Amino acid sequence: MTRDLNGKNIVLGLTGGVACYKAAELCRALVKAGAQVQVVMTESATHFIGAVTMQALSGHTVYTDQWDPRIANNMAHIDLTRRADAVLVAPCSADFIRKLAHGACDDLLSTLCVARPRHVPLLVAPAMNVEMWENPATQRNVATLREDGISLLGPAAGDQACGETGLGRMLEPEDLLEELVASFQPKVLAGKRVLITAGPTYEPIDPVRGITNLSSGKMGYAVARAAREAGADVLLVSGPTTLPTPHGVRRIDVQSAREMYDAVMAAVPGQHIFVGVAAVADWRVANPSDQKVKKQEGGAPPELRFEQNPDILATVAATTGISGWPYCVGFAAESENLIDYGAAKREKKGVPLLVGNIGHHTFGQDENSIVLFDDSGHTVLPRAPKLALARQLVSEIAKRLEQRSLLT
Ligand code: CTP
Repeated sequence: MTRDLNGKNIVLGLTGGVACYKAAELCRALVKAGAQVQVVMTESATHFIGAVTMQALSGHTVYTDQWDPRIANNMAHIDLTRRADAVLVAPCSADFIRKLAHGACDDLLSTLCVARPRHVPLLVAPAMNVEMWENPATQRNVATLREDGISLLGPAAGDQACGETGLGRMLEPEDLLEELVASFQPKVLAGKRVLITAGPTYEPIDPVRGITNLSSGKMGYAVARAAREAGADVLLVSGPTTLPTPHGVRRIDVQSAREMYDAVMAAVPGQHIFVGVAAVADWRVANPSDQKVKKQEGGAPPELRFEQNPDILATVAATTGISGWPYCVGFAAESENLIDYGAAKREKKGVPLLVGNIGHHTFGQDENSIVLFDDSGHTVLPRAPKLALARQLVSEIAKRLEQRSLLT
């Protein structure tokens, strides 16, 4: 896990709900990500999970009472928020949403939310029964929270503790962590639609065999996450991988290069940015067998013929036309001569920006170093975790879009 919350002070508020059990996992994840976590619980929350558990996991005294004499000046609502970088209420009950909507100050957590300095963001993760969530009064209060600039994380849909099904489940701890980390990233792609390809492709030989490559999809998924963190609406077209979809990213799964081509071409109209990270097979088997090819004792191996796959990136780049959209970014996986090959590949594909890397140094790895090629030359981004590189790449793309808009 990356320590994305290093140096951050997070106030984690718990209100009454079965989802409190997930708040324990969330607290642990926040601490592992480097945050100092100050837990504050409402009286209702203490019926669902003990303060002792939260204290053990956060490593700090848990506060539940506005009148707690352990705070020297007896102003817990002030003291607990002055050093905070964010307040996250998870789970946030229907009643606590009501309180926030009306600026109520009748317990420590609600008072603290109202008393927090204006620059401290408040994020809430609703958790309640589907009928409670869909109740018009709750929805009115939710709308008020949005108007007040409070971020709503979720809720998700699914099975509920009460036995019913629908919207109202609290997001999973790892999703809440992603959302909190994202809230600290600059929104340099706000309002932009981004289409990304990732992973390997799989070209069938017969129903049980095929040709693929060593791409794990990690870099493409990192770019998708970084673009989403930067405020973009992200669609990921992915070859076969075992990776979880980054939170808030839409994903279409494909197998072969031709399926990837079709999915991309269907999605490309209206996109602002296209990033081709996938390691797309250059060739497919021209004579795949409908049935498993059987080995004949002493017989000749099967004869495979190949034909070339369409070049997705070059095709998208060629559609850019007068509008200038989508802004196309390619990747180049080389095994040698990266600087020469990268510059040449950028020209050949007709893209303004190309990211070069050494294939066998990156496939399956969590870290990489990359080289950015554009019309003014190349820049090396030194070895770092793929998510850190992806964030730098997103910021480089945003910079170039900004320059472009200044020129037009
Ligand atoms: N790419 C693509 N469609 C293909 C092949 C490649 O969209 N059929 C994209 C990749 O997603 C990547 C870029 O083109 O963004 C470069 O891929 P790479 O495999 O490095 O280059 P190739 O064009 O295949 O050239 P070569 O194999 O000769 O190095």
